[in-house]
Amino acid sequence: MDGNGRWATQRGLPRVEGHRMGIRSVRAVVECARELGISHLTLYAFSSENWGRPEIEVLTLMGLLRDFLFKELPELSRQRIRLNVIGEIERLPAYVREAIRHTMSATAENTEMTLSLALSYAGRNELVRAARRAAEDAVAGRISAADITEASFAARLDTAGMPDPDLVIRTSGEIRISNFLLWQAAYAEFVFTEVLWPDFGKAEFLQALDEYSRRRRRFGLTSEQALQPDIPR
Ligand code: IPE
Ligand code: MG
Repeated sequence: MDGNGRWATQRGLPRVEGHRMGIRSVRAVVECARELGISHLTLYAFSSENWGRPEIEVLTLMGLLRDFLFKELPELSRQRIRLNVIGEIERLPAYVREAIRHTMSATAENTEMTLSLALSYAGRNELVRAARRAAEDAVAGRISAADITEASFAARLDTAGMPDPDLVIRTSGEIRISNFLLWQAAYAEFVFTEVLWPDFGKAEFLQALDEYSRRRRRFGLTSEQALQPDIPR
């Protein structure tokens, strides 16, 4: 979700107004994904690198986040959406962690869709934390080096139990991955759009999905093989 600051600056507004408007886009995309039966939606809401922004902006984002978590709870419950968070949650202020705990536990039984927020998240950091956990298990003798496989490593990531993303969308004309789901996006399709996040709504989301549906995913196989549904991948 990129381009909130530029959206506001273009209108002569403070950057935080862009973040405020960005919440409307979040609502629209969550609702649309849910209507379409998408099982997992992950929003990159705050990166580990974002901690370096001016304190007033960081604090405003944290406030918006807490308000969002409390305000959206009835709607998440109504739509049977489960809330999940990935990232270094312990770095977040206590009032945000409390809001996360509250909304996660209140939505834990929902099964229609999982909405994951990436908060204080960075892909490299996630990989290092997973490697550390594997090393600790090995040093303690709980596993041997040979037990570290793609599957067992993936199970140590924050996204354990979640499917890899099929599609990654980045708004605002930037063509970068910026530390998002580095491991998980190995075979993801990418859609980049010039639209700034506060202007990204249902129509733009549907357009990205349409573009995705026209991609031919081969997973390293030939076109002929990839057309056969029974090939393991
Ligand atoms: C994305 O918008 C939102 C967050 C990182 C929280 P930006 O704040 O990065 O907006 P630009 O890139 O400055 O326009
Ligand atoms: Mg940005």
